[in-house]
Amino acid sequence: MRVAILISGSGSNMVALAQSMTGDHPARPCLVLSNDPNAGGLAKAQAMGIPTAAVDHRPFKGDRAAFEAALLEPLLAAQPDLIALAGFMRVLTADFVRRFDGRMLNIHPSLLPKYKGLHTHARAIEAGDAEAGCTVHEVTPALDDGPILGQARVPILPGDTPDTLAARVLPMEHQLYPLVLRRLATGNRTPVNLP
Ligand code: GAR
Repeated sequence: MRVAILISGSGSNMVALAQSMTGDHPARPCLVLSNDPNAGGLAKAQAMGIPTAAVDHRPFKGDRAAFEAALLEPLLAAQPDLIALAGFMRVLTADFVRRFDGRMLNIHPSLLPKYKGLHTHARAIEAGDAEAGCTVHEVTPALDDGPILGQARVPILPGDTPDTLAARVLPMEHQLYPLVLRRLATGNRTPVNLP
């Protein structure tokens, strides 16, 4: 199984996914693709020997369809069986998502269905929640929606800031996403729950 990983930033989840796809794992990374040519994750992917591409969204100035047409070129050329969004911060159109129906995953830094969108950790702290976490889900046209394939929980501690909470959640993302990917690659969609 060929996995294309889409990133926008440092790519720590991409590294966790790529490092997991070795040995008897049924999947291999075929492309790391970014909407930001300066994304730190691109250099990390290159260092791991994974093909990379970047399609800068900025020249498209809000023309999502044109941006996505450009994004599809390297993506389709890589012939992925599965697409893993890993900190990919562009909203994708329904047309794009439907093309990969049931074959696109995302990781989101909240316990969905809570806190879709941005600033998830700040919103969980603000709400006085006792716990936070992350979710891997199938991508459907609605933002941060779609069947949940795994969740990991961490406590919210007194004095937490969005940064301290993010630092507690991120290592759980790095555990959860590879576990879900491996399960899925063997055809198992039973949700993973951590811890
Ligand atoms: C991760 O925390 C991921 O859950 C989040 O961006 C970060 C990317 O970090 N994704 C979203 O907020 C998606 N809406 P990384 O580039 O180091 O993997």
